[in-house]
Amino acid sequence: MAQGEIWVLGATGRVGRAVAAQLTAAGAVPVLVGRDAGRLRTAAADLGLDAEAKIVVASGAEAMAAEITRQRPAVVVNTIGDYAETAVPLARACMPGGHYLDQANDPAAFHRLFALHDEAVAAGSTLVTGAGFGVVGTEAIVARLCENRPVPSRVRVDTFASAAVEEGVLGPALAASIVDSFAMGGRRYDGGRLVKTRLGAEVQRLTLPDGERMSSVGVPSGELIAAHRVSGAPSVSATSGLIPASLAVRAVLPLLSAILRIRTVRTFAIGRMAGIKTKAAPRPRPHTWGHAVITWPDGTARDGWLRAGDAMEFTSAVAAQTALQLAAGNGRPGAHTPAAALGPDLATAAGADFVDEALA
Ligand SMILES: NC(=O)c1ccc[n+]([C@@H]2O[C@H](COP(=O)([O-])OP(=O)(O)OC[C@H]3O[C@@H](n4cnc5c(N)ncnc54)[C@H](OP(=O)(O)O)[C@@H]3O)[C@@H](O)[C@H]2O)c1
Repeated sequence: MAQGEIWVLGATGRVGRAVAAQLTAAGAVPVLVGRDAGRLRTAAADLGLDAEAKIVVASGAEAMAAEITRQRPAVVVNTIGDYAETAVPLARACMPGGHYLDQANDPAAFHRLFALHDEAVAAGSTLVTGAGFGVVGTEAIVARLCENRPVPSRVRVDTFASAAVEEGVLGPALAASIVDSFAMGGRRYDGGRLVKTRLGAEVQRLTLPDGERMSSVGVPSGELIAAHRVSGAPSVSATSGLIPASLAVRAVLPLLSAILRIRTVRTFAIGRMAGIKTKAAPRPRPHTWGHAVITWPDGTARDGWLRAGDAMEFTSAVAAQTALQLAAGNGRPGAHTPAAALGPDLATAAGADFVDEALA
């Protein structure tokens, strides 16, 4: 194994560039991996890496997996998207001994990676999914509030991301994530089982710790899966402030979800959305917030908040911290969410802080 090499797949993309920048700032020299040598060299120069810095050119997920198998990097950061399809072959290529992480945030990708748990334990590899804002920004609160306590009966997590927008286009990776999350429809845990719900049915209206009033809507997300795994609670729901909570929007969500499940409509929608031009804009609010409410069978409840700055910066810091800690040999072998693999302090190592409040 090439000692200490951290590969960033999709290093020309938004998340990939940001993760590589955070790794470089921490003193590591990431190996940039992508489909085009010229754009990789530009990305390397932008990071201040020298002209001879190692890059790996590979035409797609399959070719990247083949290079991982051949060159044995210590840690692979997957930022190429389509995680339900790309995570398993890339994670498998890291075994034995190498470690893997991605920024997936959808239940299907999570469950597929978790299915590799026993294989990863036997191989001495740590596989981490959800190394981004939503998952770490909520599961870290749940893990802290549940520490040394009995299994709660109910958990709800809410996310309020605030991120600056970069000039460019939305791109197919992000567009596919958005479309697939709508197409999946609503989900929650009930009686310990993941069950379908009507998309848009759950709405929360909350006052953030800085006084701002926000609404959030139930979504099928990695946060939901992570909160369930970390707490063991039989009843879990997750909401996001990114979906407008107006009655008109929520009324059309179930229909939109059904339409987007038609393959040709999905392809068309992703194509159109990928081309949407984005104008540079600062983040709308100073903070990004994660929130969790935990209720125990005896009626006790606790409420916790996590405060970060820009959601995208926090996401890339989480991924970089996870990569550095896995490279240092700190991960637990197996397939995990980030705080389960490395502990809730990962969130503070990535620059966030906890703002806890007892309810009753
Ligand atoms: N969990 C979170 O908090 C969070 C936050 C933000 C984003 N995300 C997810 O992270 C993913 C990346 O987002 P982004 O905004 O960075 O997208 P992006 O700017 O479009 O970058 C995607 C990168 O992946 C590469 N890529 C795409 N498809 C590929 C394929 N089939 N084979 C090899 N390389 C491929 C692209 O290479 P080319 O330049 O060659 O096209 C590009 O480098 C998305 O799935 C997004 O939903 C998660």
